[in-house]
Amino acid sequence: MSAHLRLVHPTPPQDDARWAAVERRDASADGAFWSCVKTTGVYCRPSCAGRPKRENVFFVETRGEAEAAGFRPCKRCRPERFVSGALETRIDEINWARAHEALNLRGWAPLGRLLSDEECASLIAGYKEDAQYRSTVVMRRHGFGEGEYRYFNESGSEIVSVLRARLYEKLTPVANEWLTRLKQQRAPYPAKHSAYRKRCAMAGQKRPTPLILKYGPGDYNRLHQDLYGGEVFPLQVAIVLSQPGRNFSGGEFVMTEQAPRRQSRAMVAPLEKGSAIAFAVNERPVEGAHGVYRVKMRHGVSDIRDGERYCLGVIFHDAA
Ligand SMILES: [Fe+2]
Ligand SMILES: [Zn+2]
Repeated sequence: MSAHLRLVHPTPPQDDARWAAVERRDASADGAFWSCVKTTGVYCRPSCAGRPKRENVFFVETRGEAEAAGFRPCKRCRPERFVSGALETRIDEINWARAHEALNLRGWAPLGRLLSDEECASLIAGYKEDAQYRSTVVMRRHGFGEGEYRYFNESGSEIVSVLRARLYEKLTPVANEWLTRLKQQRAPYPAKHSAYRKRCAMAGQKRPTPLILKYGPGDYNRLHQDLYGGEVFPLQVAIVLSQPGRNFSGGEFVMTEQAPRRQSRAMVAPLEKGSAIAFAVNERPVEGAHGVYRVKMRHGVSDIRDGERYCLGVIFHDAA
């Protein structure tokens, strides 16, 4: 049977070259393809130090394919940390089906590593560039916590513009699904962020909301919701720019959900430099025994014990 299948589906010609790259642990091939190891259920970079047998390996072009086939990232070569290619492509390659499922299940979803070390470093370095920002908020003055953040202006950062426009497109299907399930009387969210921004502007919300937050020892962010007026896009994204354990300790990203007549539930999202999470801004629908009910979400950051923690926040509605 298998001999017959092999006749019908001959090994793709590029697979020999791919296997050769795996055999010499060729780091220059990282990102070009991934090896799925059937015996362990993990997928690897070509440069992985692991030594699978040829007959147990098949190749895929994207991490999304490996994950869709049920493979987990290898703990040794950490394929999920590999960052290359255009930012748009990286966003496209996120396993969105799985992210949508997680958002519906618990109101937040890890999106994996999205920004390179260099991009994180350039955003952190840019924090000092006044020309990129429209305003700076010292959190203590408003009772928000301890720490500081800066809102980007319109021309603030190319990385942020790409993230905001592209992530919006990916999250809009969930936003529209929630609109229907929560029976909200709002027009569906348009497919393009530029169109959505026009709607924000008509509601008087014209100022961009992406921001960088900076925390030092003892700083924290109280549980809150990023609402800036009546126009709300129900999901937002945060990307940590510093490495936990190396650049800072403490400073966990914390979320709570409040269901009707229940006590709050706390959730802590795993953080890693350059990795993103998507989460509900305020309300999300939950399927109950008597139909859909609303759960309120809040998010914040626990005390930073030491070091410096920078985080990029991408909010899709604009501010008044
Ligand atoms: Fe926030
Ligand atoms: Zn590996």
